[in-house]
Amino acid sequence: MDTGYIHYNEKMIDHFMNPRNVGEIEDPHGVATVGDPTCGDFLRAAIRVEDGRIHDFKFLTQGCPAAIATSSIATEVAIGKTLEEALQLNDNDVIIAAGGIPARKAHCSLLAIRALHEAIRQYLARSDKKEREGHEAANDR
Ligand code: FES
Repeated sequence: MDTGYIHYNEKMIDHFMNPRNVGEIEDPHGVATVGDPTCGDFLRAAIRVEDGRIHDFKFLTQGCPAAIATSSIATEVAIGKTLEEALQLNDNDVIIAAGGIPARKAHCSLLAIRALHEAIRQYLARSDKKEREGHEAANDR
């Protein structure tokens, strides 16, 4: 019987009540803000990269309980991954790590992953630019 209530598992409730990796990163390597036009929620992600891996990933969101919980879980899934591995992550990886989420909340699990991918692309674009500037400076000598 559909009561109209949304039922979350214990892991989702734990990450909603005690979200991990919430906040800002001082001097981040990449930052991105993404929104979900279907509900108006948004999320800001910041990353630091060390040795080609996601060393730190923090988020701030104005989102629903599922967005908060899945974003917290997404940070745990992504931290430690190489940039290539992190770019391969999708909402299914977050849903699996969460132990499943109600179908109508599946879109909420995309926010953190979309923001993570944007932040990585920003980091890679900056790294490319720095490398090009380095080459140009070396060629000018
Ligand atoms: Fe907007 Fe969940 S309803 S992110």
